[in-house]
Amino acid sequence: MSDKIEKNGDKGHTAQTGYVLVLSDATAQAEYLASSILHHAEEKQGEPLRIALSGGSTPKRLYELLGSSEYADRMPWDKIHLFFGDERMVPHTDSDSNFHMVKESLLAHIDIPFRNVHPMPVLDDPAKAAEIYQAELQAIYGSKTLEKGKPLFDIVLLGLGGDGHTASLFPGTPVLQEKDKWVSWSQPSDAPHKRMTLTYSAIASSRFVMFVVSGESKAQIIREVRDEDKPYPSAAIKTEGELHWILDRAAGGE
Ligand code: 6PG
Repeated sequence: MSDKIEKNGDKGHTAQTGYVLVLSDATAQAEYLASSILHHAEEKQGEPLRIALSGGSTPKRLYELLGSSEYADRMPWDKIHLFFGDERMVPHTDSDSNFHMVKESLLAHIDIPFRNVHPMPVLDDPAKAAEIYQAELQAIYGSKTLEKGKPLFDIVLLGLGGDGHTASLFPGTPVLQEKDKWVSWSQPSDAPHKRMTLTYSAIASSRFVMFVVSGESKAQIIREVRDEDKPYPSAAIKTEGELHWILDRAAGGE
């Protein structure tokens, strides 16, 4: 395990200044993340832990581990609220749905109160669906304005696409310019489905952003996002808290 610590003072982290932690393989990566989430849940000492889950295939191994006998009964699920970082505008029963993936890999295996799971609504009108989710987040947050020092999320899990997208912040989409909304939507040109997504502002209102990336195919894009000033959507991710790249050795280029 190696890490390169570049801290950006108390001004929070960016995708370029965050910590990098390289684990031996995808199993070790999932085990590290599961134990980290358990630690953060325990340190909240009974206060809710708010996690925005990533979609895609990479985090599935983590979700399956959290739903396994090793973790399912150890996590204080009654104090954990699960949100979504993005969603495809397909029915929650569709195999392309991030909620479907999370339900199959995690929710079906844990005893979590129904009110603690916050799926993104799917409507024909994605703008309306985004307004509904934003209103839900604002009600939980207790304000319509994000305040420094009062993070919306404890943990935001993010994946990384080969084109440098993260959540559903895709290259060339108007949502990349969104400064005020917490939730918006996009129509990527090279990925299926209209999508709802947290905006940069909502993601930045967090204690921890964790990019969870594995596999050799992502090594180059990680280097470009972290080390070069390329205009990828994921390169613009910031948090008022700490940003961690949690990689397996293949994605870490080792
Ligand atoms: C989605 C995700 C997306 C994903 C990346 C990486 O809805 O697909 O939010 O941002 O994290 O595309 O996907 P993989 O983990 O499958 O490589």
